Amino acid sequence: MAKTQSIAERADALESQQMQDLNNRLVTKSLLYHLADGEQSLGNGFGQGTGKQLLMGEDPRLPQMPEKPTLMDFFKYRFAPAQQHLLQSARLARKNGLSGNMILACLLHDIAVSGFIRSDHGYWGAQMIEPYVDEEVSWAVRMHQCLRFFPDESVGYAYPESYISFFGADYEVDPYIVRDYEYARNHKWYMSARMICVNDLYSFDPNVVVELEEFEDVIGRHFKQPAEGLGNDNTPASHMWRTLRCPCNAL
Ligand SMILES: [Fe+2]
Ligand SMILES: [Fe+2]
Repeated sequence: MAKTQSIAERADALESQQMQDLNNRLVTKSLLYHLADGEQSLGNGFGQGTGKQLLMGEDPRLPQMPEKPTLMDFFKYRFAPAQQHLLQSARLARKNGLSGNMILACLLHDIAVSGFIRSDHGYWGAQMIEPYVDEEVSWAVRMHQCLRFFPDESVGYAYPESYISFFGADYEVDPYIVRDYEYARNHKWYMSARMICVNDLYSFDPNVVVELEEFEDVIGRHFKQPAEGLGNDNTPASHMWRTLRCPCNAL
C-alpha cells in the first residue's frame, strides 16, 4: 500500500513539475497524435473543467529555436536525431558525382520521415520544401515514394530486400502508387527521382558518422532560405514549419 502511494505521489509530483515547466498550461494534442495511438479522440479537448489555460506558442519541453530558424536549425532542434540515413545518402550522391540539386534532393528525400509525418512521406516532404527548392528537387522527392517499389534494371535498382521484411513478401502497393509510378516513368525528371532511389541507403554504415555541416554549402546554394526564417515567411508551406516548431498549439 505504502509503495502504491509513493508511486502515486511521485506521479503527482512529476505532473506538477511538468505543469510548472509549462507555466501551468495544459498541452492539447491534435487528433492525428491520438489516432496514432489507435484512439479516435481529442484527449482532453480544450481542457474544459480543468481551469487551465492551454499551451500556445513555444513549447518549453522542446529545444528552443532561434527567432528566424533555418533549415539546419530544424535539423538540429526538431527533426529526429537519427539523421544518418539522410546524411549518408547525400554523401553517396556526392560521391557518385550528382549535381548540387540532386545532392540536396537526396539530403531531403526523407525529410518527412525524420521531421514530420511518415505516412505518404514523399508527398509531405515535397510540400514542405517546394517553395524553397528547384521544381525538379521537390518533384523527385515526391516521386521517390512510388519509384521505391518498382525496380529499374537499367540503373541496377532492384526491389529493396528490406521491404520484404518490412511489409511482407505478398505486400502490394496501393493503386495511387501504381498510378504515380506510371506517370513518373514517362516524365522528363524520371531519372532524378530514380537517382534518389539509387542513392537511398538502407543499410548505411553505422561506423561512419556524417555531419550535417558537410552539406552546408549545398544547402546554401540550392535551398532558398527565407530571410525571415522558415515559418515566419509567407509561402504555401510556412504553416507546416510553424506546426513543426509548435506542434501542440491548441488551434
Ligand atoms: Fe523515402
Ligand atoms: Fe530513404
